Amino acid sequence: MHLPERRQAIIVLDFGSQYSRLITRRVRECHVYSELVPANTTLAQLQQNTHLDIKGFILSGGPASVYDEHAPTCDPAILHSGLPVLGICYGMQLLAHQLGGHVAPATGRREYGPATLEVLVDTTGDPRFYRIFEGIAPTPAQTNPLDQPPAVSFLHMPVWMSHGDSVDRLPAGFKVLACTGNNPVTAIANAQGKVGLQFHPEVTHTPQGKEIIRNFLYHICGCEPTWTTGSVIEQAVEQIRQRAGKERLICGLSGGVDSAVTALLVHRAVADQLTCVFVDTGCLRTGEREQVVDTFGRHLHIPLVVVDAHQRFLARLAGVIDPEQKRKIIGEEFIRVFEEEAARLEEQGGPITFLAQGTLYPDVIESTSHDTAATATRIKTHHNVGGLPGEMALELVEPLRMLFKDEVREIGLALGLPEEWVWRHPFPGPGLAIRIIGAVDEHRLETLRTADAIVIDEIRRAGIYRELGQAFAVLTPLQSVGVMGDGRTYASVVAVRAVTTGDFMTADWARLSPELLARISHRIVNEVPGVNRVVYDITSKPPATIEWE
Ligand code: XMP
Repeated sequence: MHLPERRQAIIVLDFGSQYSRLITRRVRECHVYSELVPANTTLAQLQQNTHLDIKGFILSGGPASVYDEHAPTCDPAILHSGLPVLGICYGMQLLAHQLGGHVAPATGRREYGPATLEVLVDTTGDPRFYRIFEGIAPTPAQTNPLDQPPAVSFLHMPVWMSHGDSVDRLPAGFKVLACTGNNPVTAIANAQGKVGLQFHPEVTHTPQGKEIIRNFLYHICGCEPTWTTGSVIEQAVEQIRQRAGKERLICGLSGGVDSAVTALLVHRAVADQLTCVFVDTGCLRTGEREQVVDTFGRHLHIPLVVVDAHQRFLARLAGVIDPEQKRKIIGEEFIRVFEEEAARLEEQGGPITFLAQGTLYPDVIESTSHDTAATATRIKTHHNVGGLPGEMALELVEPLRMLFKDEVREIGLALGLPEEWVWRHPFPGPGLAIRIIGAVDEHRLETLRTADAIVIDEIRRAGIYRELGQAFAVLTPLQSVGVMGDGRTYASVVAVRAVTTGDFMTADWARLSPELLARISHRIVNEVPGVNRVVYDITSKPPATIEWE
């Protein structure tokens, strides 16, 4: 099989817009690989990555004005590299400003929201200028009222604007391609492939935005749509093979989709050189361990070692109430168990050189992107059992480093991971320990497990599992009075949490139907010993978090 040495890529420079990441997504949806990098990244730095065949740049929007004292700028070498550049919003202003045009500071009013873009009749005599609008047909409602033939008619289209400053003098060689009622310079371009758009093509409020981005990629940058699930798998497998050679690898399975897909890719690449390790911390949900054994061991034939460590985890958790302390204990203990297991495997079968890990692209860029950089306060120390320490003297193999979650899911499906697994709700590394408020013990774990299984079962039966971001039960430390049969009860309160969310940074409580809530409540108080009351959590995030601890 022939694989290209270098991957075609579009580099998105992040000037701080809330949409920066979305631009990367849109490019990838057009099957072109794209990376988001900090605004001050230089061309020289980018060229050090010899795997990338950079075909063009996109300068994102951002909150600054080019006249601000510390306004971010773009490495001039990028603008003079001869490669195409698409500047969006602030990116367009910067493009104009740095190439010798002029930007008029805002006169107070920002233009924000929907607008109608009017693409001007092409009088350039050079088809290269208008490539960004190529093939975008006016819908009947958009043709001009004089019914002129499309070739000379204007093209009107709805676009999304959000800016203060605007360009009022073009750099040499540029033409104005489009305007809006409020803004005479809404799209500009030169013949060499530099384009500025004052509106946001990446948002869905610009319905033809994707076609515009596609034009930039295919017609201006000359990209080919090669970033597909199949090609991603081929490339990942080939890279793992080259990297691993004949060496052995281990991979920690967490029960989530990321580590599962990592294991599948590595297994496809090097088969039995891989051993997966699944640690039963005792804080797993009902049937979780069995599912892992069944799916990976029996169904996918991946060499799997299951370590039953629940006693040592529970011993260390005994009496611990503080959530952060629980996370810390589980994190440490997990690493210890994993190291011991790795040592045991080495004794049996020779040295292990690599640790395969399911790190995703958003984890990699976390520290560079404005929206995550802003969340500096530590709310919770997320311990992910997939994330093991670097001190383990193992080299990391991270085949998902370039991928977003939904790309990972697609790969999982293509590699035969059962659908049910692919669409699993995330489950926190510390597991049920942070869903039991207060001290964790076998008995309380069993109570929560039974209640949680009912919640999930009823949600699946109602056919809404996939619509929800996460759903689970929480065992509260509260006891309340109830009456059952003829007797008084004094028993535990279980809370049910179900949320809808896109990115887990914010979430809303799910509007489950009263009938579904009634079934869940009825079953829990009837089937779970020691529980006599069920409450539903109706708090969004923020101000609450998704987990209770
Ligand atoms: P919160 O509770 O912070 O949760 O709103 C956001 C997402 O993160 C998961 N979560 C964790 N995952 N280790 C993990 O691996 C943790 O310690 C942890 N705490 C929360 C949570 O389940 C949700 O998906």
